[in-house]
Amino acid sequence: MERQQFLKTLGISFATVCVGACFSDCSKKNNATPANTPPEGTIVSANLSELTAIGKKVVVGNIAIFRIAAGDIASSFIATESLCTHQKGTLQWNAGLNVIECQSHFAQFSPDGVNTRPPQGGGVASKLATYIITVADGKVNAKVA
Ligand code: FES
Repeated sequence: MERQQFLKTLGISFATVCVGACFSDCSKKNNATPANTPPEGTIVSANLSELTAIGKKVVVGNIAIFRIAAGDIASSFIATESLCTHQKGTLQWNAGLNVIECQSHFAQFSPDGVNTRPPQGGGVASKLATYIITVADGKVNAKVA
């Protein structure tokens, strides 16, 4: 094999490895916008009477509203996309650790949606979308910004 031909073959092999590695790596991540994310400006609401205890959750569409503290003020609630960014597991507020925790592979997220612990057993969970909370007239409102 001529030197030039060898280098061409090597170049194609290297490119194949790089593309394969990229696709492999990309398939582990799930940074896509949730399929059912409402458009900007959308407001969903839950009744305060449904969110009486810390840890209670109400899901409206693709948005979950959690009570994370006592008191009927905005800082007592958070709103995120309703399913885990890893493989769509159910999310739950863990009051002992002050995190949102996925019930499938136990990834954890800070109240502002940042992934603080990866899925157990491998994989990647990206940041949860979060929404703006207001409390008025007996309702907790989550606004998509
Ligand atoms: S689905 Fe949530 S950590 Fe896997």
